[in-house]
Amino acid sequence: MTAPLRVVVLGAGTVGREVVRALLERGDALRPADGAALELAGVTVRDLAKAVAGGIPEALLSDAPAHLVADPDVDVVVELMGGDEPARTLIAAALGAGKPVVTANKHVLAHHGAELEAIARRTGAALRFEAAVGGGIPVLTSLAADLASNEIERVRGIVNGTTNYILSAMASEGRAYADVLADAQRAGYAEADPSADVEGLDAVNKLVILARLAFGAWLDPAEIPNRNGGDPPGITGVTQADLAAAGESGLAIKLIAEAARGEAGAGDTIQAGVSSVALSQWSELAWIGGVTNCIEFDAVPLGRVGFTGPGAGGPATASAVLGDLLAIARGGGSTWAGLPEAGSGRVATLARKDSFDAPSGARYPVLP
Ligand SMILES: NC(=O)c1ccc[n+]([C@@H]2O[C@H](COP(=O)([O-])OP(=O)(O)OC[C@H]3O[C@@H](n4cnc5c(N)ncnc54)[C@H](OP(=O)(O)O)[C@@H]3O)[C@@H](O)[C@H]2O)c1
Repeated sequence: MTAPLRVVVLGAGTVGREVVRALLERGDALRPADGAALELAGVTVRDLAKAVAGGIPEALLSDAPAHLVADPDVDVVVELMGGDEPARTLIAAALGAGKPVVTANKHVLAHHGAELEAIARRTGAALRFEAAVGGGIPVLTSLAADLASNEIERVRGIVNGTTNYILSAMASEGRAYADVLADAQRAGYAEADPSADVEGLDAVNKLVILARLAFGAWLDPAEIPNRNGGDPPGITGVTQADLAAAGESGLAIKLIAEAARGEAGAGDTIQAGVSSVALSQWSELAWIGGVTNCIEFDAVPLGRVGFTGPGAGGPATASAVLGDLLAIARGGGSTWAGLPEAGSGRVATLARKDSFDAPSGARYPVLP
């Protein structure tokens, strides 16, 4: 019989606490028929008292993540702390020691993906990150594995639930941006500092990860525009009047992340960008409301395929993290398993041309 895999979870916030709860309460069920059992060996947080009050057994808790990562009795590391450091160093240390890592950290992947992929390939440790894009939607493994026989020509989608919630509420309730943002913060849909979401930087990070799997290169997030031309970044310039005018013309304004192969002869250039655009009401993306995410791939020969579902929230995101853990328990490789090693790609600004008849005076590129 295969020995259980001893798992540590770094971070027990919105996502981590759901992963910990599932491993404690459903541990027996979370065992693949053809793989190892998963045993929760430890949980790290900064505030131990808060975690105990939240129901995590004291005996499992520690505030020393580096110590647990280095512990020879630990087999798998789940990083759910978020942010840049110490998450990056801890993931690198685990992979360097040959330990598989599961993370939901889109920031670390977008900014240090090439370095982490190199370490994982050198040691043979798996790095899985399904939860980093689209929360609970099984989009990355589908792209990397199930669509592997296709050539991906374009990726586009609504990848940030916070901004989609704000735009949807402004459009349907006729309310102002600042008013809806304040509500979203109270409801827990937006952070106290919402800039990464509303300025499109979170969407840029997710686009880097999608582009790695779709086009085989780690793009530099700093090179990907988070606005169209001279517009304000992300959704920060969208007004209630813009949404009302778009609605009257049968259009919906959405924050869209998009990456496509460069024009023929443009070498390894990838056109990429995140910006507020107006979508035709015939576009499936126009109908995506609230915190839901939707990601579409134009694949050859398959055609267009889309993935829609809960893009954030503890239980939804934990579903993707646990799926990755089960894959590791079955001996599965990294999320990019089977794809060629990543190169580095050059970014060309995505030209947002009006693709069909736009109403006169439209402030946004109008996409079909
Ligand atoms: N929330 C979502 O819906 C969602 C969706 C998709 C992906 N993600 C990603 O999932 C990850 C976790 O997000 P979250 O929303 O669960 O975050 P969160 O609620 O802020 O929880 C973060 C956890 O990590 C701990 N932590 C943070 N910094 C630490 C440090 N320097 N040292 C030790 N512990 C530290 C915190 O401990 P204390 O509480 O004790 O400070 C807390 O337990 C992020 O990468 C995020 O981008 C989240």
